[in-house]
Amino acid sequence: SSTKLLIKGGTVVNAHEMEVADVYVEDGIIVAVRPNIKVGDDVTVLDATGKYVMPGGIDPHTHLAFEFMDSETIDDFFSGQAAALAGGTTMHIDFVIPVNGSLLSGLEAYEKKSKKSCMDYGFHMAITKWDEVVSKEMEIIVNEKGINSFKFFMAYKGSLMINDELLLQGFKKCKSLGALAMVHAENGDAAYEGQRRMIELGITGPEGHALSRPPVVEGEATARAIKLASFMNTPLYVVHVMSIDAMEEISKARKSGQKVIGEPVVSGLVLNDSGLWDPDFITAAKYVMSPPIRAAGHGKALQAALSMGALQLVGTDHCSFNSTQKALGIDDFQKIPNGVNGIEERMHLVWDTMVESGQISVTDYVRVTSTECARIFNIYPRKGAIRAGSDADIIILNPNSSFEISAKSHHSRSDTNVFEGWRGKGKVEVTISGGRVVWLNDELKVFPGSGKYVEMRPFSYLFNGIGKADERYLSSLKAPVKRFRATT
Ligand code: URP
Ligand code: ZN
Ligand code: ZN
Ligand code: ZN
Repeated sequence: SSTKLLIKGGTVVNAHEMEVADVYVEDGIIVAVRPNIKVGDDVTVLDATGKYVMPGGIDPHTHLAFEFMDSETIDDFFSGQAAALAGGTTMHIDFVIPVNGSLLSGLEAYEKKSKKSCMDYGFHMAITKWDEVVSKEMEIIVNEKGINSFKFFMAYKGSLMINDELLLQGFKKCKSLGALAMVHAENGDAAYEGQRRMIELGITGPEGHALSRPPVVEGEATARAIKLASFMNTPLYVVHVMSIDAMEEISKARKSGQKVIGEPVVSGLVLNDSGLWDPDFITAAKYVMSPPIRAAGHGKALQAALSMGALQLVGTDHCSFNSTQKALGIDDFQKIPNGVNGIEERMHLVWDTMVESGQISVTDYVRVTSTECARIFNIYPRKGAIRAGSDADIIILNPNSSFEISAKSHHSRSDTNVFEGWRGKGKVEVTISGGRVVWLNDELKVFPGSGKYVEMRPFSYLFNGIGKADERYLSSLKAPVKRFRATT
């Protein structure tokens, strides 16, 4: 069927420019972007006068239908994506978790889970063990399955955690495949020691989670991952940057010219750890994620780093558990499933906190919520741009309208929301996904199975110059000494 759409009179925003223009869409693709487009009466017209027309958000970091810590996230690929669309996000990249160490079995499971998708999505692959089979599977994953990034967990001792030897093998393999290495940067042994310390002190509540893995635990692992990536001369992506300590390591490395990308998440940017001290267990437990939400001051510093370009794009780490699931840790914070929401709230909170406050421009907003992610994972300009030929994933944001966040009105299946009660300026009034209007007048029209898997190819711009740098390194080595065996 033919769907034709004209978005009239809005300010069209891309990562580096904006102009008042119309956007004409046919069959899920943007056909034209220019002023005064004339169309026939078979075309649906949306008036965007006085509003911003922007690429739909791309969330680089989510966990839908994720089996973790004896629970499965309450949002699956349908409910999580419906929530995303209601908040102006039109694509996300989720983490495939291997099954018994097998990447291909893990992918098969996620292919099943994602069949009910109602928006476009891609995958990262987690690496949780190392052997020849994993190494071979990585090749298939990159060359045949459309995945160009691998996440290594430096924490979660006893389950997902890997050691430095594996990290180095993984970095090496990523580099040879032109794939991006990602790290969950916390020192898992230190976090484990921190947990022992809390239990010895009798601190078993949610505040023990934050106290057991302070910023230094994140800073150490971030620095180590960065240095090991430098040693291997391969690009590195640090997920969920939560502390000044980690951010400063990334900033320092980038200043020295190293290819490091830092991803803050919306919870880390706008919240502080005070909720973990709430006397009500469930209220406190809903804030438990790793690395932990930090003391006030860290979020503000992360915002400043984002505005200055020391951090590059904003994710969510959406990994939602409801009250009943969080209650698994009622007697012991170590058993609280780790994770918070954000997939529906990210676009609004970044606008309110960063644009409305004057910290970043509207074009930078598009860059950090959409375009940068598309560029890094090599799907730009299909995604992350309003231009002829791009997918029609578009939002209309009204800067004069306001939003309010509550578990009572959100679209996630969770009964709690870590941003409960937040009111702010700037509302996503329309979301267009693959050329269809899916969010309008506060109503969602979504269908399971309408979302497409987006394949991501290796060899993105991040790898430019890596080969040359390796050659320079080899030619800079002092010639080895020719040694002669003394004969008598
Ligand atoms: O607490 C978190 N972040 N849960 C999701 C898993 C991860 O480490 O990203
Ligand atoms: Zn058609
Ligand atoms: Zn993580
Ligand atoms: Zn995560």
